[in-house]
Amino acid sequence: MAIGRSKVTVVGAGNVGATAAHWIASKELADVVLVDIVEGTPQGKCLDLAQAAPIDGFDVKLVGANSYEETANSDVVIITAGLPRKPGMSRDDLLKTNSDIVGQVTEQVAKYSPNSIIIVVSNPLDAMAQVAFRRSGFPKNRVMGMAGVLDSARMRCFVAEELDVSVENVTCFVLGGHGDTMVPLPRYSTVAGIPITELIAKDKLDAIISRTANGGAEIVGLLKTGSAYYAPSLGAVEMTEAILKDKKKILPCAVFLEGEYGVSNLFVGVPVKLGKNGIEQIIEISLTNDERTALHKSAAAVQELVDILNI
Ligand code: NAI
Ligand code: 2OP
Repeated sequence: MAIGRSKVTVVGAGNVGATAAHWIASKELADVVLVDIVEGTPQGKCLDLAQAAPIDGFDVKLVGANSYEETANSDVVIITAGLPRKPGMSRDDLLKTNSDIVGQVTEQVAKYSPNSIIIVVSNPLDAMAQVAFRRSGFPKNRVMGMAGVLDSARMRCFVAEELDVSVENVTCFVLGGHGDTMVPLPRYSTVAGIPITELIAKDKLDAIISRTANGGAEIVGLLKTGSAYYAPSLGAVEMTEAILKDKKKILPCAVFLEGEYGVSNLFVGVPVKLGKNGIEQIIEISLTNDERTALHKSAAAVQELVDILNI
């Protein structure tokens, strides 16, 4: 980690990328380099954000770029480049286009910031994290995907609404791939330490679980021209903050599994400890047979995509 202010590169200056830059700046976490292929977009967004600094009072440097020289020696790189979902599209429809984009971006990131930690956001998430892992050649503790933080936050939001309690009281865990087969775990979800299974009737809980699994599609259906970005970008920034501040924070992240949870050579979302070295521990919680079966079904869906890409 560099001495002085940290440096974060965000690749993709669209909805998720620009909003991530906004959160990072307003939290004064790091200097930000925002990269996009569209000329003027990252520069314009950074200039606009820099002009918000005197109002909000944050002191960070913001640089927009269409190439990678300015990104050199970044501590963390968030990859959001790619196409988002449109109504009727699944995340998997994005597979081929986004794997080409994420592959090219990763090569540049690895060239200019060989010691960085990469957080992938582009969809289909777990497969794109695997692309970044393979193309970077980085060790597995330095490449991860953001999805579990978002999916868990969605569930937390719905639980807090249902019980009319503070979102701060609610902890939820959603594991597995970031797709329709994701695995919300009510048994490990609590309100002020009380299992939600004690507080919410089964039919209501089932509805929350289903809404969580379809949380991305619900927003795509409403927005019509793109997908969610406030919560996704903040999910990536929470992971970034845990790394930059060496918080040892336990968060659900897509990581490369080598036998944990009975899954091998595949990125899938599980609880991990995040600190200055990236993924410092994969935490294996005990699962019931049904939960394990659901996790394996979700992993199989990711494996299908990875097989298509042959990575
Ligand atoms: P967006 O369309 O607003 O922004 C994407 C940006 O990537 C555009 O500005 C585009 O010019 C840029 N881009 C394309 N190719 C590039 C390249 N080779 N190098 C640099 N930049 C490039 O899309 P949005 O909403 O920001 O979403 C970005 C990605 O994140 C999508 O794949 C989306 O599906 C995914 N996503 C994932 C979530 C998750 O939970 N993991 C949640 C939300 C979005
Ligand atoms: C989401 O879950 C589309 O993956 C994106 O909002």
